[in-house]
Amino acid sequence: MENLRIISSGVKYEFDTASLTLRADMFQTPVGYAKAHIDKWQKCVAIDTAVLPECRNQGIASSLLETLLEKVFVDGEMDEACQRIGTGIETNRVVLSIGLSNIPSRKIATKMGFKEMEPDSHDSMEYSLTKEDYLNNRKKSQSKSPKTLGD
Ligand SMILES: CC(C)(COP(=O)(O)OP(=O)(O)OC[C@H]1O[C@@H](n2cnc3c(N)ncnc32)[C@H](O)[C@@H]1OP(=O)(O)O)[C@@H](O)C(=O)NCCC(=O)NCCS
Repeated sequence: MENLRIISSGVKYEFDTASLTLRADMFQTPVGYAKAHIDKWQKCVAIDTAVLPECRNQGIASSLLETLLEKVFVDGEMDEACQRIGTGIETNRVVLSIGLSNIPSRKIATKMGFKEMEPDSHDSMEYSLTKEDYLNNRKKSQSKSPKTLGD
């Protein structure tokens, strides 16, 4: 998407937690975000995302999540925060909690390789993605992409 720009807040510390937020802008106007934050209960990184209703179904949330997963799993941008915030918080797994009726989110999570875990309440499901699975999927999709001239 030519007019989509993704802007990172960098890691921000607040009280006893930390987060990394990406904002999506279309034509210099904010249209959505994805945020990774430390979940002290689950001892891992949890992700939330939302896109303005009028801008949905154009791949914005997918682009935000792809960029965020690279930052967490490949660039290690949350590693230092997890170490500073508490013992045993892992950056080798991220989780999403998704309402059972939220078909677009469940579709995106599955597309990105998240696995369905236990229902985390009567109306939502936890999805989980390990760093190992993420890197394996990434390797597979890179090996499938056509080589460009000069490779
Ligand atoms: C979930 C949400 C972030 C998705 O944003 P988005 O930018 O529209 O997402 P994308 O365009 O990247 O992907 C949406 C996918 O759902 C699919 N989809 C949308 N509505 C659908 C429906 N009713 N049935 C089946 N699939 C549907 C789209 O076709 C697309 O799939 P594709 O990538 O295979 O084409 C957005 O709907 C939203 O903000 N919802 C409210 C907040 C929320 O639920 N956040 C998630 C909590 S983790």
